[in-house]
Amino acid sequence: DKGNHRHFMAKEIYEQPETISHTLSHYVDMGAEKVALRETLPFDFADLTRLTISACGTAYFAGAVAKYWFERHARLPVDIDVASEFRYREPPLEKGGLSLFISQSGETADTLAALRYCAGQGQHVASLVNTQESTIARESDVVFPILCGPEIGVASTKALTAQLTALAGLSIAAGRARGVLSAERENELVRALTALPAAVAKALAAESQIIDIAKRLSKAKDVLYLGRGPMFPIAMEGALKLKEISYIHAEGYAAGELKHGPIALVDEDMPVIVVAPSDELVDKTLSNMQEVAARGGKIILITDAEGAETAGHGISDVIIVPRVDSFVAPILACIPVQLLAYHTAVFMGTDVDQPRNLAKSVTVE
Ligand code: M6R
Repeated sequence: DKGNHRHFMAKEIYEQPETISHTLSHYVDMGAEKVALRETLPFDFADLTRLTISACGTAYFAGAVAKYWFERHARLPVDIDVASEFRYREPPLEKGGLSLFISQSGETADTLAALRYCAGQGQHVASLVNTQESTIARESDVVFPILCGPEIGVASTKALTAQLTALAGLSIAAGRARGVLSAERENELVRALTALPAAVAKALAAESQIIDIAKRLSKAKDVLYLGRGPMFPIAMEGALKLKEISYIHAEGYAAGELKHGPIALVDEDMPVIVVAPSDELVDKTLSNMQEVAARGGKIILITDAEGAETAGHGISDVIIVPRVDSFVAPILACIPVQLLAYHTAVFMGTDVDQPRNLAKSVTVE
């Protein structure tokens, strides 16, 4: 049932304040402002020297954001690769290490093959899945639930923000176990997570402005997305979402890589979407953005009110999201990139919920 929405994708985008709250209530004890894992861990985060993450598509981008969190908040080195590369790379893995697989469906063939490889190497196998009765869940030593409810739209939306919420919780649990996070810092990070659903609801309210931008975006042939740090995977996710439902060619790039090649593409016909809420890296990203503006590039900046002020003039469009703690900012930034892709596809008249050539669950390699 799509409710009042035209597509399942729209319904799922709008459900996110609730789905994030729901996932949060599984991982977090809000009263105590602490992460409280309900799953029995067959490993101790304190003993790990490395975490290996493998996934495909949007689930991979969730893992790519989590890498920043585990490394920063738990000082736990993370290796991450798309499952289709990982499985054939056959990387050496230390016995007793931890491998984590992220999958909405729990049936993705490449992710499952990567899981079986890791199990064969004597790794502890953990998975983050939405479908509890799936093959990936069955073959895991510990299953962390995504808990976003069934996702019907082929383009993943609410599964991503719920995956990120769960991963944020796991990174805090790891940070505590490894003695990296103080109790106060844990409380702070948990408060940032708790504030997220209300911020997501506010970000969803920017829709009318996004529709206006999407109308122009639907005329573009190529779109570049830029982000730095944990916003880099969000830039890649924005590009994936746009190409899969609007069929417009899009690429996500690390902002600092711009001058190493893609800046050659910049002209007034190629919109450049910059994902840059205020954080310790925002000035760097904004200066990359100015390089685009100086060459006549049309910029769509996704930031908060403070970022917009720092950005100054020469920006065609600014999408303002609420200011949140930089820890949870990548989760919030998913909302405008989803809405932009969705409305662009609606203008193009594509089959948003069933884009051509794609399947919801990719069970062949
Ligand atoms: O079910 P999974 O999470 O394992 O699926 C992984 C990808 O196939 C999936 O995220 C795909 O990239 C989506 N269509 C993205 O919107």
